[in-house]
Amino acid sequence: MFISFEGLDGSGKTTQVQRLAVWLRTHGRDVLTLREPGGTRLGDAIRAILHDQTYAEMDVWAELMLYCASRAQLVAEQVRPHLQNGSVILSDRFADSTLAYQGYGRGLDLGFLRTLLHAITHGLQPDLTLYLDIDPERALARRRSSGEEVNRMDAESIEFHRRVRAGYHQLIAEQPDRWVVIDASASPDQVAAHIQAVVKARLNLSG
Ligand code: TMP
Repeated sequence: MFISFEGLDGSGKTTQVQRLAVWLRTHGRDVLTLREPGGTRLGDAIRAILHDQTYAEMDVWAELMLYCASRAQLVAEQVRPHLQNGSVILSDRFADSTLAYQGYGRGLDLGFLRTLLHAITHGLQPDLTLYLDIDPERALARRRSSGEEVNRMDAESIEFHRRVRAGYHQLIAEQPDRWVVIDASASPDQVAAHIQAVVKARLNLSG
């Protein structure tokens, strides 16, 4: 099973990926956690470029190609082999992030992005996508107070992050069976409990 986590920066995805991994392992599951961009040697090198705030001049097409290069490598090197082994894969972001950020946020053509994403993922989609929903102002405040890693997207306007959030809601409306919306403004324990209940039902876990 392939589960992706999506949401704005500051929505708490990274913490929740780790918590779900621990919980699934206590249920005897073999779990692989990944993050995008990154997750491979090549992807981690690309991540360093993408998050480097001194590349303020980065063109939107260059940005798109870097995210996609990182993802192509991740799918080939990690996602496909581990899915064949029967592992549960938890990914902190996947192709939906490109639709939300480069498509709805930056305004790149969604039809073109879908074709590109289909090619680099070999048509692979997550079985379940957990969307940690939070409003942009709150997400930003959380990031400022938590001392989280800062990236180039943090320099974008609140309007940009609003477009990204609206984009996510559009994607959810298009494929409601794949997505589950989680209220990320709740406490980390409440969010974790909600996620566990959703995953328990999907994986038919007991206990
Ligand atoms: P994160 O690792 O803290 O989630 O940061 C990744 C940043 O990159 C985040 O701001 C979202 C952005 N991003 C895109 O714009 N497009 C993508 O395809 C991915 C995976 C991430």
